[in-house]
Amino acid sequence: SEGDRGNSTCIKAELSASFSITYDTANGTRTVVVPLPGSAVVGVASSCGGDGRFPSLVALFGDGHSLGLSFSSNVSLYSVANLTLQYNLSDVSTFPEANGTDVVTVETTSVGMVARVNTTYRCISASPVIVGGATVTFSNVTMEAYMTGDDLSPNESVCTADQSFTTAPPPSPSTTTAAPAPVPTPPGTPTQGRYSVSNSNGTVCLLARMALQLNISHFSASQNKTIQEVVNLLPNQTTSSGSCDPTSATLVLTQGSATNLSFLFTLNTTSNRYHLTGLSVVAAWPDMTVSLPLAEECQLDQDSMLIPIVVGAALAGLVLIVLIAYLIGRKRSHAGYQTI
Ligand SMILES: *[C@@H]1O[C@H](CO)[C@@H](O)[C@H](O)[C@H]1NC(C)=O
Ligand SMILES: *[C@@H]1O[C@H](CO)[C@@H](O)[C@H](O)[C@H]1NC(C)=O
Ligand SMILES: *[C@@H]1O[C@H](CO)[C@@H](O)[C@H](O)[C@H]1NC(C)=O
Ligand SMILES: *[C@@H]1O[C@H](CO)[C@@H](O)[C@H](O)[C@H]1NC(C)=O
Ligand SMILES: *[C@@H]1O[C@H](CO)[C@@H](O)[C@H](O)[C@H]1NC(C)=O
Ligand SMILES: *[C@@H]1O[C@H](CO)[C@@H](O)[C@H](O)[C@H]1NC(C)=O
Ligand SMILES: *[C@@H]1O[C@H](CO)[C@@H](O)[C@H](O)[C@H]1NC(C)=O
Ligand SMILES: *[C@@H]1O[C@H](CO)[C@@H](O)[C@H](O)[C@H]1NC(C)=O
Ligand SMILES: *[C@@H]1O[C@H](CO)[C@@H](O)[C@H](O)[C@H]1NC(C)=O
Ligand SMILES: *[C@@H]1O[C@H](CO)[C@@H](O)[C@H](O)[C@H]1NC(C)=O
Ligand SMILES: *[C@@H]1O[C@H](CO)[C@@H](O)[C@H](O)[C@H]1NC(C)=O
Ligand SMILES: *[C@@H]1O[C@H](CO)[C@@H](O)[C@H](O)[C@H]1NC(C)=O
Repeated sequence: SEGDRGNSTCIKAELSASFSITYDTANGTRTVVVPLPGSAVVGVASSCGGDGRFPSLVALFGDGHSLGLSFSSNVSLYSVANLTLQYNLSDVSTFPEANGTDVVTVETTSVGMVARVNTTYRCISASPVIVGGATVTFSNVTMEAYMTGDDLSPNESVCTADQSFTTAPPPSPSTTTAAPAPVPTPPGTPTQGRYSVSNSNGTVCLLARMALQLNISHFSASQNKTIQEVVNLLPNQTTSSGSCDPTSATLVLTQGSATNLSFLFTLNTTSNRYHLTGLSVVAAWPDMTVSLPLAEECQLDQDSMLIPIVVGAALAGLVLIVLIAYLIGRKRSHAGYQTI
């Protein structure tokens, strides 16, 4: 995308982005992952700045969605000063069952894209940016603002995530034996965490005790091949949130800005049991070239829901181990724990 100043270009950007957006439906929240399509166009709101305005680049896509980046600079550095995401909940093909119809605008000033003036910002690694209830994950970014020529500067400012691959010392040419490939340390047994979800009045409506291990296969930029990365969720770095409705409940576990798991439980009113009916995982780990939209409904029969639950979900190589989960239905006539 380019922003034009008269006939000369002031901002040029080539990038991939995907959006993980959580929205309300009549029966709970839902998370979708939407890629920035190749058909995105530069909107008229883009500008080269001046007259007290920041230079900005606005990409329009789909049915009324947009991603805007505003830039600011001083003598030595320029940066993305703010990121604005707009999404149109009326677009039912993207947001099925949304109970709102608004165009939602979310904004953040914590974007973390900084480059030296007169250089091209480059970041091949996936970098997530949290904005409101959404996460925008950028990858393969080459971008320059405040351009002085028509082409991207050959001088680059490489983001920190990419530097960890490129600053490794090259193997000594005199060595004849090949250096052993780095063997990732297995993370060991995951630690059990206690997670809860509360109603708006503060009553706990869902309790989960589980140890989680993710095994995600993805393309590694540093190793130039698809690898299986096994990562344990660290309970002391994981926050839980979610919501409960009479017939469904959502548990969202977030570790840092890079890992996000959503569990959807629904009540089968015939059998009066809760089932795990949906699971979505969004991972934006440093070495991934694309973030993983692994969102899929799983159909599990009732027997497999007895505790301890072991869910082996081979979703593009994802294996998730859920050891124990307890769910309290808030509409239970007798107060107590509904065990799934
Ligand atoms: C832009 O280019 C057109 C023709 O290519 C030229 O007529 C016009 O003067 C240029 N404008 C500026 C501001 O350079
Ligand atoms: C929400 O409810 C509708 C009908 O009331 C149903 O078709 C849909 O599957 C439910 N969605 C979820 C995520 O439970
Ligand atoms: C949508 O549903 C959520 C609960 O799932 C509720 O909190 C919210 O007020 C609803 N919004 C609208 C516009 O109906
Ligand atoms: C939002 O989506 C609806 C339905 O797809 C469309 O009619 C409407 O024009 C869109 N809103 C904007 C601001 O583009
Ligand atoms: C430019 O801004 C950065 C941070 O935004 C700051 O660290 C740096 O000192 C500033 N440089 C000058 C010359 O003002
Ligand atoms: C963020 O950018 C938008 C336009 O892209 C601008 O209207 C808004 O004032 C900016 N906000 C901040 C805090 O800079
Ligand atoms: C950037 O390039 C412009 C035009 O070539 C020059 O005037 C300016 O001094 C340069 N700034 C830096 C920090 O290199
Ligand atoms: C909180 O709300 C739930 C239902 O939403 C209700 O069952 C419970 O009694 C409420 N608790 C208090 C303390 O008001
Ligand atoms: C991760 O998944 C791959 C492919 O399914 C499998 O070969 C590997 O053994 C798994 N690793 C662990 C630690 O479970
Ligand atoms: C990555 O691997 C492919 C084939 O496995 C090779 O063609 C390509 O040149 C490699 N790229 C880099 C940057 O090493
Ligand atoms: C978090 O837990 C891990 C392992 O369970 C432990 O190694 C680490 O020290 C803990 N960190 C903090 C800040 O408690
Ligand atoms: C609900 O439970 C009943 C009885 O166990 C079963 O026959 C039915 O298929 C279940 N319905 C769904 C939607 O899973």
